[in-house]
Amino acid sequence: MGAEKRGALIVLEGLDRSGKSSQCHRLVEFLKGTGLKVEAWRFPDRTTAIGSSISAYLGGGAELDDRAVHLLFSANRWEKRLQMERKLMAGTTLVVDRYSYSGVAFSAAKGLDLEWCKAPEVGLPAADLVLYLDISPEEAAVRGGYGDERYEQLDFQKKVALQYKGLQGKRWKIVDARQSFDQVHELMRETCVKTVSNCLNGCHHLSWL
Ligand code: TMP
Ligand code: MG
Repeated sequence: MGAEKRGALIVLEGLDRSGKSSQCHRLVEFLKGTGLKVEAWRFPDRTTAIGSSISAYLGGGAELDDRAVHLLFSANRWEKRLQMERKLMAGTTLVVDRYSYSGVAFSAAKGLDLEWCKAPEVGLPAADLVLYLDISPEEAAVRGGYGDERYEQLDFQKKVALQYKGLQGKRWKIVDARQSFDQVHELMRETCVKTVSNCLNGCHHLSWL
């Protein structure tokens, strides 16, 4: 196993209704077609006990303290850490719909301290590439409308967008998500292929530096 190349951790981020979920699936199909081992993941992972508490909160059926919810979202990633690292080390590329950046952007948008929000994410596997599907909150809001989940409101999404801006770093690629579905996909392909082929063995861990 040691000499094998590891898989890449590719994360898609963006506001609600920015097109992440459909683009994740399209990207996974494309990468599979190139012969890669690749899986689609998403956070929150609502299939676990922690994930179902998160889902109840998002659906409005449960009231929880903002910090408690933040820690649940983080714990939902931690409970998947070992499985993620094993997959990556075994050469499987993971395309993940939302990750620590959503965790920080959405909680900081509520007014929680930024550094406090980042702290529980330190030590999780670091993304090799973050594709940010860039769309204005106003444009996202008119795209077929929001669902009923908490956070799917224009005023709040504006605050989230500002927080995302502050998180952008060197592993980020900003993708203009106002284009057609196919164009957005095209914009992401090349960077993903490059990222996968540049992944050396050994997993980086998130440090926010
Ligand atoms: P989803 O629509 O991608 O399933 O995500 C549900 C909501 O949860 C979405 O509005 C973003 C939010 N969220 C957080 O607040 N913190 C997190 O850590 C994650 C992954 C998502
Ligand atoms: Mg949503």
